Amino acid sequence: MNSDVLIIGGGVIGLSIARELRRAGVRRVTVVDRGEVGREASYAAAGMLAPNAEAEEIDEFYHLCVESNGMYPALADSLLEETGVDIELDCSGTLYAAFTEEDSAELHERLQRRRRAGIDVTLLSAGETREAEPFISTSVRESLLFPDDRQVENRKLLAALRRYAELNDIDVVEFAGAERVLTEGGRVVGALVNGEQIYADITVIATGAWTSFIQIGDVPAPVDVKPIRGQMLCFQSAERPLRRVIYSPRGYLVPRADGRILAGATVEDVGFDASVTEKGRQSIREAAIEMAPGLADIDVVESWAGLRPFAADGKPVIGAFPGVDKLFIATGHFRNGILLAPVTANILAEKIVNRRDSEYLRVFGPQRFAGAAIAGNC
Ligand code: GLY
Repeated sequence: MNSDVLIIGGGVIGLSIARELRRAGVRRVTVVDRGEVGREASYAAAGMLAPNAEAEEIDEFYHLCVESNGMYPALADSLLEETGVDIELDCSGTLYAAFTEEDSAELHERLQRRRRAGIDVTLLSAGETREAEPFISTSVRESLLFPDDRQVENRKLLAALRRYAELNDIDVVEFAGAERVLTEGGRVVGALVNGEQIYADITVIATGAWTSFIQIGDVPAPVDVKPIRGQMLCFQSAERPLRRVIYSPRGYLVPRADGRILAGATVEDVGFDASVTEKGRQSIREAAIEMAPGLADIDVVESWAGLRPFAADGKPVIGAFPGVDKLFIATGHFRNGILLAPVTANILAEKIVNRRDSEYLRVFGPQRFAGAAIAGNC
């Protein structure tokens, strides 16, 4: 099999890159996945697009997140037109709520940092919070409203990207695990997939939590990515009792259009174990009920876990490998894979198709890890 671009990994990142390349005119794009496409971390996610509520610092990572969030309205429109799938982009904003004295102290620090950075945020009193969200607990003390944060139905996003691939002759090969990227004279020429050689002019590694298993020639990929488990619960209500995504320091609630309320999430360093535990379910349920006690009377209809890809410094890894031609990587998106898919796809497609370098490639490229230079080993 031959391709112009071979993408290893069919999660939201790999599928988004495939679409962006195809839209930029790349003729033969192939996506291979070790299982079914879009069924790992991207499927397990909650679809929050909340850079303003979540930002720890106002840095390059924050700007990357904001840029990607800003791409979603146009992406939702394009995908609807291209595929007929509505990804349910919801622009109601996010509420970050305080329920204890400590929460309030943390909320006010958060508020000051956001205001200093010029982020649009409104402080709501307890009464105003309950007026905005009557289903929230009467113990709420105050909240921050971030109007520019959004949410998307990530499983519909995956369905739309998959449909785009089907309609646009992108080869999607499932249950096709790539163990090794093939090299010839310092240049990557494709990958060994289920024992078969797939040749490509350009190869992109987008293998999420499984990135560390890929070899480049005979050398392990010089980017360490480990899985961080996130467990989630889903309540099913007859109506939509919450308008917005609600956060507290102990969890979050994501109300969907069909009355489901997703609650999350654990953050656990337990290797490649994607099981749901009683302890995990209990802690999520407690945090959810603290935010909205009415959930105690609503059935939990589903629970699941996903493995977030965590690179050594917790930041995404996007760019070209120094010293190895024709190989790119997009991984390590950790808690922000859905949020960062559009911008990741855009900057990689710009680099691959137009050789245009984004400043983000310098900041988030794999060269930042010691030992990333593998020139001469291929
Ligand atoms: N982005 C939500 C989470 O990782 O739990």
